[in-house]
Amino acid sequence: MTKVTAITNQKGGVGKTTTALNLSYALSLKGKIILLIDFDPQASLSVALGIDGEKIPNIQSLMLSEIEDKELEEGYIVNINENLDLIAGTLDLAGTEASLVNVMSREMILKDVIGKVKNKYNYDYIIIDCSPSLGMLTINALTASDSVIIPVTPEYLPAKGLILLIKSILKIKKRLNSNISIDGLLITMMNERLNLSKNMINSLENTTDTIREKIGLDIKIFKSKIPISVRTGEAILQQKSVIEYEPENKVSKSYQSFADEWINK
Ligand SMILES: Nc1ncnc2c1ncn2[C@@H]1O[C@H](COP(=O)(O)OP(=O)(O)OP(=O)(O)O)[C@@H](O)[C@H]1O
Ligand SMILES: [Mg+2]
Repeated sequence: MTKVTAITNQKGGVGKTTTALNLSYALSLKGKIILLIDFDPQASLSVALGIDGEKIPNIQSLMLSEIEDKELEEGYIVNINENLDLIAGTLDLAGTEASLVNVMSREMILKDVIGKVKNKYNYDYIIIDCSPSLGMLTINALTASDSVIIPVTPEYLPAKGLILLIKSILKIKKRLNSNISIDGLLITMMNERLNLSKNMINSLENTTDTIREKIGLDIKIFKSKIPISVRTGEAILQQKSVIEYEPENKVSKSYQSFADEWINK
């Protein structure tokens, strides 16, 4: 069975793309067969892997084929390593989001594309890197997913944004995808030397307490936490995951322990 997971948070720059890439890379090293989908019109994930989505069939062209009831064109799977594949993103995805307005069952298009991909290939996990918004693309991603991982940074822990995201996920669960569950919150870019980080984790725990009281939902904070390291950005300039760029780096190790925690939960 393929598990489909969206990495999502409408807040920008919290480490969604970095998490999608490094979680997938860590899983691929464990022998899991992974498909990454770059579902952000910024196409940062494709750029980080050195892939130009404009030149090949990409997630936008697959969605257009689906909307037009055509067969999916060939050649959309890009091989990153032995166990890791990518469906590239493209800036044109922004246009698709706008044109979805007039499409019947517009929330289901990505789900239908993924259904066809699942039937054809045998992935253990499909990981979707979402854009920083709660728009129609993210609704498509959540409708297509079995679960959600929510990266959060210690600098950004306002309860409001998180509660809004959780409420959106619950709305999708009610109306479009009863199957979806929230795997948990992953703290990224944590500065271990700051006492502040401790306070911020407390504040995040207060938020999950509030969510439990107000919405009746128990949301887990993953034990693994991702520290800050400049190597993360350097790796991207080399078009690599941090794990490939510097395996012994603290970010590499923390993503590997997160991968273990996530698949064994
Ligand atoms: N653990 C880390 N340590 C240091 N820098 C990091 C770390 N994780 C991510 N970054 C950097 O922070 C920036 C934002 O990360 P990333 O692109 O993964 O966030 P995002 O949530 O996908 O952003 P967007 O919302 O724009 O898609 C990037 O420059 C990335 O290299
Ligand atoms: Mg991103």
